[in-house]
Amino acid sequence: MSEKHLLEAVDLTRHYSVSRGFMKPKATVKALNGVSFTLDAKKTLAVVGESGCGKSTLARQLTLIEAPTSGALRLSGDDAAGADKARLKLLRRQVQMVFQNPFASLNPRKSIEATLDEPLLINDTQLSKAERRERIAALVAKVGLRPEHLRRYPHMFSGGQRQRIAIARAMILNPKIVVADEPVSALDVSIQAQILNLFMDLQQEFGTGYVFISHNLSVVEHVADELMVMYLGAAVEYGDKKTIFARPLHPYTRALMSATPALKAEDRRERIKIHGELPSPLNPPSGCSFHKRCPLAVARCSAEVPVLREVDGRKVACHEV
Ligand SMILES: Nc1ncnc2c1ncn2[C@@H]1O[C@H](COP(=O)(O)OP(=O)(O)OP(=O)(O)O)[C@@H](O)[C@H]1O
Ligand SMILES: [Mg+2]
Repeated sequence: MSEKHLLEAVDLTRHYSVSRGFMKPKATVKALNGVSFTLDAKKTLAVVGESGCGKSTLARQLTLIEAPTSGALRLSGDDAAGADKARLKLLRRQVQMVFQNPFASLNPRKSIEATLDEPLLINDTQLSKAERRERIAALVAKVGLRPEHLRRYPHMFSGGQRQRIAIARAMILNPKIVVADEPVSALDVSIQAQILNLFMDLQQEFGTGYVFISHNLSVVEHVADELMVMYLGAAVEYGDKKTIFARPLHPYTRALMSATPALKAEDRRERIKIHGELPSPLNPPSGCSFHKRCPLAVARCSAEVPVLREVDGRKVACHEV
């Protein structure tokens, strides 16, 4: 490895063993199947794909909430797989998470000040009470809340304000990386842009790298530097956002984009429709996992798994492009 990325995932895989009933053999859900990418400071990687394609599973591996079944995860070159408990605690500090639902992710019994103080206390940051207060006050101002908000409780805030609090909680330990799982999809459309702009302002100020999960391509177009389109636990297209938006190559990416009317993608006229539902990761199709829904599928697609390869400045996993 020549240069150290903030985050590097290599062939990240997560399978779940699930029971199919009494005395029946266990089945394997292949939720994440060999995902690789890199993320650098001040950059945003957006991850898109329909429900069940493995986005939250990926988020749980990146935030070290779960250990992957196989593959490597490096934080500033430091491999998380071999880390002992103490090391893991230090690594976890560097990756914080913002969840979709700000109503569920904040403790209703804790004031905003206590919510923001908790990570500082748990991570024994050696700060005095006065220093912690100062740090909390500065951050609260940066996320657009007022000092008097500190003594209030979550139920006294709107959804947008709560998400500001959740963002402050993610940022309080100065993480290198923030993983945001659908952070604006539970909010009013009128509030979404404000929260997205807040994310971007904080990124400029602190140099944070973001992994931004969203199924909303207009949101992705706004925030992303790089884009990864996932299908059934794997990346089907990955690369620079502008390159992909200007000319999406994978039929699944093209279908997603032509289904979003607000996008300015060049081949809007050439609409691609996909039919049917996402196959089960318990029993994925042979060959290309998209072939049963793909308008371009040929015989080879049901027999041979396409690998991600460089085409026109990005990576695509498709036999037909
Ligand atoms: N703990 C688990 N045990 C068994 N299966 C799981 C577990 N977690 C996730 N899965 C399965 O893995 C697949 C991917 O789930 P995941 O939650 O990562 O999808 P997602 O892309 O986040 O979907 P959504 O857009 O609905 O949030 C799904 O089929 C899901 O049922
Ligand atoms: Mg999810």
